[in-house]
Amino acid sequence: MAESPPDLLSVGFRDVDTTAPGKILRCLDALQAMTAGRAYKARAQAALGLEPGSSVLDVACGLGDDVGRIQAGGARAVGVDLSRTLIAAAQQRHAGTGCAFQVADAAALPFADGSFAAVRIDRALQHIAGPGKVVGEMARVCRSGGVVLCAEPDWGTFLLGGSHSPLSERIQHDWIRTFQNPWIGRELPSLLSMAGVVELQREALWLPTHGFAESDLLFEIDANARKLAAEHPEALAWLEAYRRSEAYAGVLMLICWGRKL
Ligand SMILES: C[S@@+](CC[C@H](N)C(=O)[O-])C[C@H]1O[C@@H](n2cnc3c(N)ncnc32)[C@H](O)[C@@H]1O
Repeated sequence: MAESPPDLLSVGFRDVDTTAPGKILRCLDALQAMTAGRAYKARAQAALGLEPGSSVLDVACGLGDDVGRIQAGGARAVGVDLSRTLIAAAQQRHAGTGCAFQVADAAALPFADGSFAAVRIDRALQHIAGPGKVVGEMARVCRSGGVVLCAEPDWGTFLLGGSHSPLSERIQHDWIRTFQNPWIGRELPSLLSMAGVVELQREALWLPTHGFAESDLLFEIDANARKLAAEHPEALAWLEAYRRSEAYAGVLMLICWGRKL
């Protein structure tokens, strides 16, 4: 299969600082604004079972909105991300709230063993090579008895709305294959278990989009159809029909968490 262009979100999130940030920022904000986006994030935050003053680390925090919500709930929240651009934006957005942000690679967290009462990651393992190393690092910096939580989509559950055809199946398939780890959602329990996290709990929440603008912003329907059009020109007609239709899509978000031994 041809190399995927880096301006696809599914590729750009691997290294945001080498990507034009506009689409990345719009995608992150769009998800935070969606009812279903807020619902799975609220569930993931509740699962942390935080007490006032607990120290929490959000790994690959992006624009830091989860860090802001956790801090507003009375915990002491720290966010790290590989991207200088996103950390600078998070610092600006959450200035004066007490949230702390720093640039760091999820695979080499700059914290001592057992530093946090809870450690979370949200929609980032799908983009990172070696997710087992990252979950191992999350468990290392979590104190014994603390909560380690991962929330990730599983792209094997991706649904591109409308009538099925070989072309729509191909567009769906090609999009899935642009992710570093498309099947990460189903792997979360084993990754956490291998990192020494026990008493695992799992939940799955559906993340639907409605209408072309929202579906395209999150799932890059236009870019994926146009990419395929080089080989199959009829993909452009499919795109126009999808644009004029109900144009919905969705993916299952898997949340898995437990206690560090
Ligand atoms: C889809 S965004 C999710 C951001 C945030 N967790 C949220 O839910 O809005 C993926 C994030 O992973 C970050 N990321 C990718 N590779 C990383 C790495 N090796 N270490 C730390 N962050 C990384 C990206 O910079 C980006 O902010």
